[in-house]
Amino acid sequence: MPFYDLWHEDGHVPEIRELLPPLLKGVQRSVLEIGAGTGLITRVIAQATPAEIFAVEPALAMRSVLLSRLAEDPALLERVTVLPCGAHDVDLDEPAEAIVMISVLYGFDPAERERLWPVLAGLLEPGGLLLFNHRERPQGEPGELEPMGSYQVGRHTYQVLGQVLEVSGEKSRYRHLYQITRNGTLISEDEVLGETHRPSTARLRAELEAAGFVPDDAPDGMQAWRRAG
Ligand SMILES: C[S@@+](CC[C@H](N)C(=O)[O-])C[C@H]1O[C@@H](n2cnc3c(N)ncnc32)[C@H](O)[C@@H]1O
Repeated sequence: MPFYDLWHEDGHVPEIRELLPPLLKGVQRSVLEIGAGTGLITRVIAQATPAEIFAVEPALAMRSVLLSRLAEDPALLERVTVLPCGAHDVDLDEPAEAIVMISVLYGFDPAERERLWPVLAGLLEPGGLLLFNHRERPQGEPGELEPMGSYQVGRHTYQVLGQVLEVSGEKSRYRHLYQITRNGTLISEDEVLGETHRPSTARLRAELEAAGFVPDDAPDGMQAWRRAG
């Protein structure tokens, strides 16, 4: 995701900045963040709680930006431990008080997702909190490449274009193009192909309950669950 911060400051991040802090109220000791990316949400967690943060990020490119963000802030460098692995392979010295997973869920296929919930339950203390964002909405239709965001960086224009290639059930395949232009002439282009899996809320609920989670109150757009005590 070459222009991650440019694009996502325009996407889910501002909403999460509003919705996440009240849900973390009372969390004091430790937060495990799954899929920390470039650290945009890590910083929100750090501002909302005094807790130690364990930031899981498997992708080197994203993790490098995360580390640069931490390096700019000595207080963050002290409080945030970066775990260079995927969610299924996390190993903590003590169970966490809360887990935060923002805009990561739809990257797991159904089998990975069903394996994930028991892993997360095992990483939480009894009664511990699991927070993630989710909204049930219809899959996009396959179609043409469309502009999704455009940003000026100095004299250059950075553009993200997106296209849904194929949809079947909860799975959708997409293509994103990251283009840089100078005076209207393309000077750089990166293509990213990927797939997302958007489960229904009912299916998520069944999976979470099967893994021993009980629902907690959360505003529209967020899910809050607790590991049964
Ligand atoms: C859309 S980004 C979200 C980043 C950040 N949470 C945010 O909201 O800005 C998804 C992140 O999940 C990470 N990811 C992908 N597979 C993962 C896995 N198996 N375990 C943990 N994180 C994963 C990706 O590398 C990417 O950084």
